[in-house]
Amino acid sequence: MTIPPSRSAARLRKLIPFKPEIAIVLGSGFQNTSSNLKTETQIDYRQIPGFVPTGIAGHPGRLLAGHIGSVPVLLLCGRAHYYEGHSFETITFPMRVLAEYGIQMVLLTNAAGGINRRLRQGDFMAVSDHINLMGGNPLRGVIAKGINNFVDLSAVYDAKLRQALVRAGKQSGEVVRNGVYLAVSGPTYETPAEIRAFARLGADAVGMSTVPEAIVARQCGLRVAALSCITNLAAGRNPHPLSHQDVIRTGERTGAGASRIIEGFLRLTAATL
Ligand code: HPA
Repeated sequence: MTIPPSRSAARLRKLIPFKPEIAIVLGSGFQNTSSNLKTETQIDYRQIPGFVPTGIAGHPGRLLAGHIGSVPVLLLCGRAHYYEGHSFETITFPMRVLAEYGIQMVLLTNAAGGINRRLRQGDFMAVSDHINLMGGNPLRGVIAKGINNFVDLSAVYDAKLRQALVRAGKQSGEVVRNGVYLAVSGPTYETPAEIRAFARLGADAVGMSTVPEAIVARQCGLRVAALSCITNLAAGRNPHPLSHQDVIRTGERTGAGASRIIEGFLRLTAATL
């Protein structure tokens, strides 16, 4: 690792005049949540050492600090993806920075394709576990003194936080089901045969992010929650060809619901930190 996460964390401390303990990564379909934030500080990713600008539509690439309701939070608007050609080290670097900064809990959000037939377009899924089929592990080769790379992944997604996501969904009239998220590298969507195989493996939804960040966040001792927006039914389940534009469009349509879930989630969990 060339840039120490402590240097980037020091930059955040200098720029942000208060100290949030919760961070939320806003993926495709969740950008709208930032309109709920009373923004106090806005930092372009290019101002944070080691962060890379995100080049995909729907991902502006900036960190906002402020309050949602009365809860101080950091919002990471946009993430770098493995499918853009970045290394696992690069795309998970923000997790190391958040841990150094003093964040206790991270909510990772993403767009996903629904595999489980109970999931409908526009539903939400609280991730209960994952299957990593990205073809690599973000801890491979990252060897630093005193850091354990043999991280236990038997409870990556904090059960209490997951219950809070489901409860927040009920309170705001949104469907939030529990389910297993399967990560692929992308950038292509899957074949129908792959989706049938993933269903047999026990996956409920498929996406191209979140898992590397969740692994590194656990290595750093953060509590982790993840919320997927089912922006489409997966290949072979969907009568139409899949397109990134459709994923973004559905995300925009479900944005208000996503914001309500996240606001409720913060209300339920902030007091437990
Ligand atoms: N597959 C993979 N990633 C995705 C999908 C999908 O169907 N929808 C949104 N992200």
